[in-house]
Amino acid sequence: MKLPLLLVFLWTLTTFSLQTDSPGQCVCEFRNSEQMFPHDKLRTAENEASDCNSRVSPWKTTELQGLMLGLDRRLVQLQEDVSVLEKEDDGDLYGVLSLNVIHNEMTEIRLLLDKLNTTTEEQHKQTAATTHRMEQVRAEMEQLETFDTQQVVKRQEANQRLRRDLDKCRNGLHAGPPPTEPPNGSCPYGEFLNISEPRVYTAGEYPGSYKYGAWGRDPKPEPGKESWHWLVLMTSSNRYSNYVRQYHSLSSLIVGQSVPGNVLISSSNPTTNTIQGPNVVLYGGSLYYNCYNQHAVCRFNLTSKTVTNVDLPQGTRYNSKGNFCHLDECYPYTDLDLATDESGVWVVYTTTQDFGNLVLSKVEEGEPPKLNQTWHTSVFKQGVTNTFVACGVLYATRYVSKDVEEIFYSFDTTTGKERFDVGIFMNKMSTNIQALNYSPVDQMLYAYCDSNMVSYEAMFESSGDSF
Ligand SMILES: *[C@@H]1O[C@H](CO)[C@@H](O)[C@H](O)[C@H]1NC(C)=O
Ligand SMILES: *[C@@H]1O[C@H](CO)[C@@H](O)[C@H](O)[C@H]1NC(C)=O
Ligand SMILES: *[C@@H]1O[C@H](CO)[C@@H](O)[C@H](O)[C@H]1NC(C)=O
Ligand SMILES: *[C@@H]1O[C@H](CO)[C@@H](O)[C@H](O)[C@H]1NC(C)=O
Ligand SMILES: *[C@@H]1O[C@H](CO)[C@@H](O)[C@H](O)[C@H]1NC(C)=O
Repeated sequence: MKLPLLLVFLWTLTTFSLQTDSPGQCVCEFRNSEQMFPHDKLRTAENEASDCNSRVSPWKTTELQGLMLGLDRRLVQLQEDVSVLEKEDDGDLYGVLSLNVIHNEMTEIRLLLDKLNTTTEEQHKQTAATTHRMEQVRAEMEQLETFDTQQVVKRQEANQRLRRDLDKCRNGLHAGPPPTEPPNGSCPYGEFLNISEPRVYTAGEYPGSYKYGAWGRDPKPEPGKESWHWLVLMTSSNRYSNYVRQYHSLSSLIVGQSVPGNVLISSSNPTTNTIQGPNVVLYGGSLYYNCYNQHAVCRFNLTSKTVTNVDLPQGTRYNSKGNFCHLDECYPYTDLDLATDESGVWVVYTTTQDFGNLVLSKVEEGEPPKLNQTWHTSVFKQGVTNTFVACGVLYATRYVSKDVEEIFYSFDTTTGKERFDVGIFMNKMSTNIQALNYSPVDQMLYAYCDSNMVSYEAMFESSGDSF
């Protein structure tokens, strides 16, 4: 399905001729016939997208905002790919592969714009001015689609200028990047202070189908998979799953185009290594989760497709006996909550000997995985709806109302200090949070809420962000 489209695209853009120079050798000659790459257009489009993004009211149109964010990121990616294409210009054969990549980007941007249009129509919520701007962005993007990629290659200097301009523009829009050094004790960004309004809000590929699940991005991705996102859905009884679904970007997750698709743990469930419960994380190309019917953390290596595990202490509550709860209602099979932060993987659970209070253990990546230090808290798990770990500090949330959740509790593993007065409020898009995790790569919180995917930005003392 994709290939013929791509060939047509390449055909219309360029003229190829095949020659046989010497036996067994095939040379591909590229000739150029198109107009100049409209770099100012790309810049305008990006400006418009960012501008739109900041103008749209986050309250009413978070889905729209998510799409705009997706678009924003696509434009940045497009720009990067164009740079790669430039570098590949060896004056001989051109980077056909890069052309494919760029074409895919353009397709994705078009899908995103279509989705954006649909969302716009559905919601009827944004102003005429914003609509007009989006029309402009769309028009710009359509023009960009007709650009001659080969001219991009030829006009390296112009494009370098474009890149500089874009960088300037981006740096103007977002304050300088936060320090990325891993912490050695305390958090490099200072104290965790607040949380943004929802940034991405999307029903994704299966709107309303799976109430329980989790999503996010791998904080320690394999090379080439930096922008990949993952999704794990409890596809059976709100309890089990047997696969990880992957998307090669945020926008493909939003528009529901899963490439490269699923990685299966087993063909059916439940069986020995079935995923049980939604609070899973992907880290270093492996999925960490509560394995079916065991008080153990399983690790599924997506490359080798093998599962290894580590047992939690005797007395650990499992099989829906140590759940997160709100009011009198508990979230089934949330006994184990896997988490990631700057230092790696953690597991949050409770035991009989801790009288139902939260326990936190560091999971070490070795083969097989091992538990390292363990901390015992004095917060009762049934009074908590979910947890996450950021910079070595455990945070717990509780239900306030169907619109608001409160991050009320923290436990600092460095100092052992507990706080019950954190008082950071999260605005929710739906009543329940089935999974919540912090991503140290972008300082975002990824939440799965009644079959919707929502993300929030975690704001620290020195993240210097202006959102
Ligand atoms: C948005 O979609 C509607 C149909 O759903 C279509 O008539 C309209 O032309 C589209 N707008 C753009 C800018 O594509
Ligand atoms: C943390 O690391 C920095 C350099 O990476 C070092 O200068 C500092 O002494 C370290 N602090 C502690 C408490 O280990
Ligand atoms: C925290 O962020 C929210 C927006 O998400 C804002 O409304 C609120 O005023 C902020 N609170 C503080 C104490 O800065
Ligand atoms: C996963 O498997 C691959 C291939 O066997 C291996 O290179 C990698 O180290 C494994 N990852 C972990 C975390 O063990
Ligand atoms: C356990 O944690 C300590 C402190 O962070 C670290 O030095 C040690 O290497 C860890 N042990 C294992 C087995 O990874």
